[in-house]
Amino acid sequence: MTAPAFGGEVSEYYQRFRRGYPPAVGDALATAFELTRDDVVLDLGCGTGQLTRVLAPRAGAVLGMDPEPAMLDQARKAGSPPNVSWLLGADSDVGALAPALGPGRLGAVTVAQALHWMDHARLFAATHPLLRPGGGVAVVTNGEPLWLQDTAWSAALREVVSSHLGTPVHRTCGTDETSQSRYATALSDAGYVVDSQVITYDGSLSIEEIVGGVFSAMSPSQLPAAEARPAFTERVREALSPHGPLREQVRVRILIGTR
Ligand SMILES: C[S@@+](CC[C@H](N)C(=O)[O-])C[C@H]1O[C@@H](n2cnc3c(N)ncnc32)[C@H](O)[C@@H]1O
Repeated sequence: MTAPAFGGEVSEYYQRFRRGYPPAVGDALATAFELTRDDVVLDLGCGTGQLTRVLAPRAGAVLGMDPEPAMLDQARKAGSPPNVSWLLGADSDVGALAPALGPGRLGAVTVAQALHWMDHARLFAATHPLLRPGGGVAVVTNGEPLWLQDTAWSAALREVVSSHLGTPVHRTCGTDETSQSRYATALSDAGYVVDSQVITYDGSLSIEEIVGGVFSAMSPSQLPAAEARPAFTERVREALSPHGPLREQVRVRILIGTR
């Protein structure tokens, strides 16, 4: 799909239907960066806070930062742990946090499902002085998009979505091997020690969750008109019904760059 803007109704679908992260992902990040209650963590491109909330119990304070006000509004509405603050800002604003935080103040910077929107090389350089020794950057991906998985139901979904958009869908949101290896090289070039982890879990999905997940990845202009959404849902239901049960195996990939 083409670049989504995450505004308006898309942010609502994102908050309601995007996969969260299992506690094992928070534990892996806490272990990798030896996070304690003394640490501040920046979750950049936090969206509606899927990873931010998992990080909250594992750090002293978490800053969820995103340039899309609608995503932050949804994050706030969904409820904030007391040690989370939501900040409006993009990757290019990270350097501006330096005077407020001071050097070496961050335990980690996490970027989940969002690095493909950023200038990653510039970001990795900007975060380095903000991180304490042993802290680092984590680039997290949360499985393959629903319409790009290697299952019969996902292939059927791909057909419906392509037909709605009038173009084949193939965007991989930085989950592909080429992007992952580019990010690893850039972390290393910026002075980080690079490692990686994969955490896998199984999930099952309803048609409502699949349609909501698809809408959460569209730009507002790509969403079917409100009155056409029930028909879109029925198309998805009919196309996927021969391929049930609707199960997926989600691979959360974590690229870890330690300072
Ligand atoms: C796919 S969502 C990921 C949300 C959440 N981190 C997750 O794991 O589900 C991508 C987010 O990146 C944000 N984003 C887009 N461009 C950005 C930029 N230049 N700097 C920071 N965040 C950006 C979008 O507003 C959106 O909320």
